[in-house]
Amino acid sequence: MKKVLITRKLIEENFINIQNKFHVIHNQSDKKLSDNDIIKMSIGCDGILTFPNNNIHADLLNKLSDSIKIIANYAVGFGNIDIDTANKKKILVTNTPEVLTEATAEVSILLLLGASRRAYEGRIFAENKNWEWSSDFLIGKQMTNKKLGIIGMGRIGRAVADIARGFGMEIHYHNRSRLPENLEKGAIFHEQLKDLLSQSEFLSINCPGGKDNTNLLNKETLKYLPDGAVVANAARGEIINDKDMLDAIRVGKVFALGLDVYNGEPQINEEYLKLKNLFLLPHLGSATKKTRIAMGERAINNLDEFLNKSLKPKDQVN
Ligand code: DGY
Repeated sequence: MKKVLITRKLIEENFINIQNKFHVIHNQSDKKLSDNDIIKMSIGCDGILTFPNNNIHADLLNKLSDSIKIIANYAVGFGNIDIDTANKKKILVTNTPEVLTEATAEVSILLLLGASRRAYEGRIFAENKNWEWSSDFLIGKQMTNKKLGIIGMGRIGRAVADIARGFGMEIHYHNRSRLPENLEKGAIFHEQLKDLLSQSEFLSINCPGGKDNTNLLNKETLKYLPDGAVVANAARGEIINDKDMLDAIRVGKVFALGLDVYNGEPQINEEYLKLKNLFLLPHLGSATKKTRIAMGERAINNLDEFLNKSLKPKDQVN
């Protein structure tokens, strides 16, 4: 049997399945492994099943045993793995697309609604029992019939658009390239980010993270948003420049912000925590049992196809 290191705890259903296919070393304690742990524990392994909070950087990859031929990431994003170095080391990398589309799109909508309808402040009032209904109590922004801008019209962005159509929203998007009509479903393409932003009363970030999209929302670009826009990020923390976003919130350019992902997570910029018009979640995009099991199955299948069946795995990204 081929041997695989699993760097964090797998859900039981997945664990039962992977044990039938591989000899496994499982970090069941779920404590984050150090680089050294990963290097030592993977000696003699053929593959590694990693998770989005394992930073598989160049130096770590260079120190991995030559026996490692595949890294299967338990996430659709793979910015945590240095692909250039993986390529040099001829290590194949896979992700888990498709299966988390709906779950993550739901969270994008939750962020937009939670932020725009002031859910965090509402919870505080409810808990403190110091509120009374009144005509102007916690007035939020209504999402129905507004314009929604989506950055990144891949599967998740399109699923966000599908839900938002139910709110009567006019969909605008910015993407590397324009979608065919059947996928666009009437959404309006903007080749330039600034043109998309200038239409976005509500804005949902659903593009990949990584070098190309780091600081996409910054001092320069944020100014194109209409005053009082609502912004949600369920993609990756580095897409937003936190300092510039905080300035935009303070001057009212951004009415409210919903975040599921953060620069340097699990840390969160302390300044965000001081503001009430933020709706924050701890990276829950894909956190439903159905989705997490499906992600695990997808990662296991990728390992199985490559290591046991000598096939090109379905979700190879490099
Ligand atoms: C992903 O798959 O990239 C998600 O962020 C993990 O929850």
